[in-house]
Amino acid sequence: MTDEIEWWDYEDTTEMANALAGDIQFIIESAIEARGAAVIALSGGKTPIPVYEKLAQAKLDWKRVTIVPADERIVPLGDPLSNVTMIGKIFLPKGARVMPIVPQATSDYKAAGRSADALMQELHWPLDLVLLGMGTDGHTASIFPGPDYDEALNGPKERRALGLMPDPLPPEAPVARVTLSRAGIVSARSIMFAISGPAKKKVLEDAIKEGASSPYPVGRVLAEVELPIDIHWSEQ
Ligand code: 6PG
Repeated sequence: MTDEIEWWDYEDTTEMANALAGDIQFIIESAIEARGAAVIALSGGKTPIPVYEKLAQAKLDWKRVTIVPADERIVPLGDPLSNVTMIGKIFLPKGARVMPIVPQATSDYKAAGRSADALMQELHWPLDLVLLGMGTDGHTASIFPGPDYDEALNGPKERRALGLMPDPLPPEAPVARVTLSRAGIVSARSIMFAISGPAKKKVLEDAIKEGASSPYPVGRVLAEVELPIDIHWSEQ
């Protein structure tokens, strides 16, 4: 586990969006300067939407930016639950390359995971950034307990993504997922969290304390992170 975890506290999501969008902009600019392109994985869910809207206003060479969802719900493109649809609405008009990772018309989540992994393998690794969110149940990306949990945490290092069936299904989006694996997440050049509310703060603090023995997926992921990480937390 990293020994450098820095918490950044904000009163609300607007304040968090302003600060975090600035940090992500800096990561993208540095990657473009160093390697000519930036590849970042962004979480879905609702919390980071203001961050993305703010980031999209940044003057960046968006054509050099590739964005993949850190995880995806297995639903058709355009579905309100689709993470890449939300991300695409915000960043495609800027000229960024936004990559869907779930094949259309799939009912086999394992096969969807293999195809997401194949797509991910074509990106330039390590990713410049993985921006994670977290549920109050302690899941991050789409690493949830269930039949694929061990594979998500302990699969081969070179497997970047996999299909996963949460058990139990999370009520806010009760569908199978594809997700970056723990190995894919921890290999990134930078890892940040964006979370809101006291309940998530408590879960994340507990998960950090528990580390590898945590009942929360996020604790198990963090246990393998070696680089310093930033946690951006807004009270509301
Ligand atoms: C997903 C997400 C997931 C998300 C958390 C928090 O597709 O489910 O990527 O990991 O970050 O569920 O979501 P909220 O921000 O909506 O609470």
